[in-house]
Amino acid sequence: MKLYFVTSNRHKFEEVLALVKELESGIQLEPLGNIRKLEIQGDSLDEIVLFAAENLSREIRVDFFIEDAGLFIDALRGFPGPYSNYVYRTIGCEGILRLMNGITNRNAEFRSIIALCFRGIIKVFRGVCKGKISNEVRGHFGFGFDPIFIPEGSQKTFGEMSTAEKNMHSHRAKAVKLMIEFIRTFIK
Ligand code: IMP
Repeated sequence: MKLYFVTSNRHKFEEVLALVKELESGIQLEPLGNIRKLEIQGDSLDEIVLFAAENLSREIRVDFFIEDAGLFIDALRGFPGPYSNYVYRTIGCEGILRLMNGITNRNAEFRSIIALCFRGIIKVFRGVCKGKISNEVRGHFGFGFDPIFIPEGSQKTFGEMSTAEKNMHSHRAKAVKLMIEFIRTFIK
């Protein structure tokens, strides 16, 4: 079956494609990048992703999903959270490290929310990856805040990991696995 991933982020697409193949899901993943996605700036990722999915489901008649993610830092009371995209584009990894200067509690988590529009219904899947903010920018792989995030159980940042390695830990991989399990029960 064909499933469209509505994203213009090629890194996200590669991460999900690797999982779809690895899990032999029977899904043929296609990117849907050049589509007008109505977005709101909300305080919760769920709200943002559901709003976009509901609007899009009125416009396109294919099975698709959208995904929204954010970095939540404990010592900053969850900042940047749903504002991660804006914060990355404005102050970036270096800016986050400056905000964290002198702070010993480096705990943080990435959250991923997927809204799947499948056979006319919308279903939500979530994934969380706990970890820590590094003391410096490390690694050139991935995107966004990858070079400053060390997932639990690893010494490396996401920026120092291959796609396959990141998928062993990541928030997105956890949410995608749940979505694939759900779809599998339908296409058996
Ligand atoms: P988006 O709205 O899902 O694109 O995510 C918002 C921002 O969070 C992105 O611009 C990235 O800076 C950051 N982000 C989301 N997911 C990841 C990830 O897996 N690694 C690193 N940064 C991420």
